[in-house]
Amino acid sequence: MQSYTVKGVRGVRGEITVPGDKSISHRSIMLGSLANGITRVSGFLRGEDALATLQAFRDMGIEITDDGETVTIAGKGLHGLSEPTDVLDCGNSGTSMRLLAGLLAGQSFFSVLSGDKYLRNRPMKRVVEPISRMGGRILGRAGNTKAPLAIQGSPLKGISYDSPVSSAQVKSAIMLAALYADGETTITEPHLSRDHSERMFRHFGASVESFPGGVRLSGGAELQGRDIVVPGDISSAAFFMVAALIVPGSELLIKNVGINPTRTGILDILCAMGGDIELLNQSEDSGEPVADILVRSSQLKGIDISGEVVPRAIDEFPAICVAAAHASGTTRVSGAEELRVKETDRIAAMTANLRKAGVEVVDTPDGMEIVGRERLEPCAAESFGDHRIAMSMLVAGIATEGETTVSDVECIATSFPGFLDLLKGVSVS
Ligand code: S3P
Repeated sequence: MQSYTVKGVRGVRGEITVPGDKSISHRSIMLGSLANGITRVSGFLRGEDALATLQAFRDMGIEITDDGETVTIAGKGLHGLSEPTDVLDCGNSGTSMRLLAGLLAGQSFFSVLSGDKYLRNRPMKRVVEPISRMGGRILGRAGNTKAPLAIQGSPLKGISYDSPVSSAQVKSAIMLAALYADGETTITEPHLSRDHSERMFRHFGASVESFPGGVRLSGGAELQGRDIVVPGDISSAAFFMVAALIVPGSELLIKNVGINPTRTGILDILCAMGGDIELLNQSEDSGEPVADILVRSSQLKGIDISGEVVPRAIDEFPAICVAAAHASGTTRVSGAEELRVKETDRIAAMTANLRKAGVEVVDTPDGMEIVGRERLEPCAAESFGDHRIAMSMLVAGIATEGETTVSDVECIATSFPGFLDLLKGVSVS
């Protein structure tokens, strides 16, 4: 297990691009495989999570080639997958496992999904339950709540599902199952979660109705292969945005970042904290809005964070915690209990790490209170095997006056290969 040490820096400066959006990369492989004809994906994220999805479809007989620039998928249509001869390995990726659980339930074959020790401990009942109500046959460990999941494909029927959680993985799993279901499927959720599936279904020619609070679609839609340009991942850009805000003397331009409104909670939160952030060159590609993001160092102030912005920033809370730790006053996060079931319990992980850096933090069942201070203390932080915890604490480290070590940083490769070099490249020592 490799640890990594960073030193305090005197500025974060330059112009960067971040790797492709993880959510869109997963979905491009899934829909490209189920479409008729060729799909070409540029900007695909070659991180372990999205590559696990890519391999799963190869294991089900889909020809997928990668020339380093473009990933080309020879889609075989809705009924073109073949039974995998071994367990499909989702690695650390909740998106691979949950979306595949929905998609595989409607096939005419048997399959098994598993993953690493972190993924095998994450809740799967949230997809097993609605998919079973559609007629899906899924068995799993711990009373069908945890992976490995064994799926015997079967005929499905459309349902109306009122999801108790705002989760794009749950919504997308049901949408993928709905493609195979008889009749109409309606899904509602407390707050709108990321809508990349809705956008990509439409991009591939399937009709999906979005209405306030939910989505509706019918089974049997034919998907047509398409070209997809994947924008930079705003969840990856977030670490650099926070770095540039908290290190004095910084100015950073992050080019070509996806700014889908269901993902821009991080921009709303950092701007409400007083962050100097500008969006430039706004455009749209493959049904997704894109912009360059210019960030300059700022004196941040603590704010209250709750409600609909929480799912729109769900992956950014580790980075937001680091921003809050540098703000004047207290930041209060509530309604974010989902953080407890991410790659690790992110409330517990960030509470432990920030306390090591001298920050006063109170953790609550659904959030935390963070009392900002002028400068954090260098410390030995733990990644807990979670890529976003590791990157957040490295960003915290470059804003100290000393050396911060983060344990087990290999996990960063799940979403952001090249992060360490990029961080070094923009750091002014
Ligand atoms: C994702 C949805 C979110 C997010 C995850 C990616 C997706 O998970 O945290 O990183 O691509 O659908 P939840 O659906 O559990 O909120």
